[in-house]
Amino acid sequence: MTRVLSGIQPTGQPQLGNYLGALQSWIALQDTADAFYCVVDLHALTVPGEPADLRDSTMAMATLLLAAGLEPDRCTLFVQSHVAAHSQLAWILECTASFGEMRRMTQWKDKSAKGGEEAARLGLLAYPALMAADILLYDTDRVPVGDDQRQHLELTRTLAERFNHRYGQTFKVPDALIPERSRGGRVMDLQVPTRKMSKSSESPQGTIFLFDEPKDIERKIKRAVTDADQGVDAVRYDPTAKPGVSNLLGILGTITGRSPESVAADYTRYGPLKADTADAVVELLVPVQVRYRELASDPGAVAKLLRTGADRANEVASATAARADAAIGLLPPS
Ligand code: TYM
Repeated sequence: MTRVLSGIQPTGQPQLGNYLGALQSWIALQDTADAFYCVVDLHALTVPGEPADLRDSTMAMATLLLAAGLEPDRCTLFVQSHVAAHSQLAWILECTASFGEMRRMTQWKDKSAKGGEEAARLGLLAYPALMAADILLYDTDRVPVGDDQRQHLELTRTLAERFNHRYGQTFKVPDALIPERSRGGRVMDLQVPTRKMSKSSESPQGTIFLFDEPKDIERKIKRAVTDADQGVDAVRYDPTAKPGVSNLLGILGTITGRSPESVAADYTRYGPLKADTADAVVELLVPVQVRYRELASDPGAVAKLLRTGADRANEVASATAARADAAIGLLPPS
C-alpha cells in the first residue's frame, strides 16, 4: 500500500489554501493509502512565539484536522515533537545537507530578509532538513502538499539520494503529490491575486480563514479583486491576464470537483460567480466549524487520540532512525 505523509504548522490562522491545497487530499488519501499526518510544532520554533500560544495552537490544529475529516482509525495523526526520531534524524540530515544549498531555499531568503539574517534563527535555515526527516522517517512514497512546498520536496529527494549514495541504501526517495495550481495547488490572496493566500498574511481581507463566520466569507469574496472587463468572455480562466477571476474559478472548481474552464462556462458576470463561490466556501466550512466546536469541548479525548497516533508513528520512525544511525557509523547502544 502506498505510504503518504504530510504536515502542517500549528501557528497562524489556518486558511482556505491549507484546506484546498493539502487537507482535501489528506482526507481523500485515508481511503487509498497508509496515511501519516502530523502537526509540526517543532517547525513553529523557527520564528518567535509564546510558549502558551504554541501549546494552544498545536491542540487547536489537531482538533481542526479531526473536524475536517481525518479519522484516527483510518490514518495516523500525531504531533511531531511526540516522536523523538524527528529531531534525531534532522541532525543527521543537517550533516548531509550543505550550508550553500540551505541558503538558496526561497523560504529562507524571504523570511530571513524580513528581520535580517543576523537575527534569523539558525533553525529557520535548517528547517528543510527537519522537513526531510519528517518525510524520510516513514519510508514515504508520496507527500501531499501545496505548490509552495515543491522546493522543499526536491531538497528532500536530493538529501535522500545523497545519503543513500554515501552510506548505502537507507531511505525511500519520495515523490511530491501536488494538485494543479488551478485545482487548489495554489490558492491566491483575494485582494492581491498574484500572491498566495497565507496563514501569516498581512492581508486579512484577502484571506479566508477556516474559522471565519459566513458573513465574513461572503464579504471577502464579494470584495475580491477582479478586473474591469465586461462582455460575454469576461469570465474565463486565464491566470496571467485575469488572476483574480481565475482564482475564484479555481476555488469554486476545486470545491465542486470541476475544472476552472468548465466552471467559467456557466457565467458571464462576476457577481453571480462570486455569490456561488461564497456559497460553496460557506457550505464547505460551516460543518467543519460545527464539528470543531464539538471536539474542542473534550480536549482530553483529542489528547488521547494524539497519544495513540504518536505510539504508532514512533514504531515506524524509530526503526528508520536506527537504520540511518547505523548506516552513518553511530555506535549502536548495547
Ligand atoms: P504550512 O503549514 O505552511 O501549510 C500546510 C499545507 O498547506 C499548503 N498551502 C497551500 N496550498 C495551496 N494554496 C495556498 N495558498 C497554500 N498555503 C498553504 C502547503 O503547501 C502545505 O501543504 N513546511 C510545511 C509543513 C511541513 C511538511 C512536512 C509538509 C513540515 N514537515 C513534511 C509535508 C511533509 C509548511 O510550512 O506547511
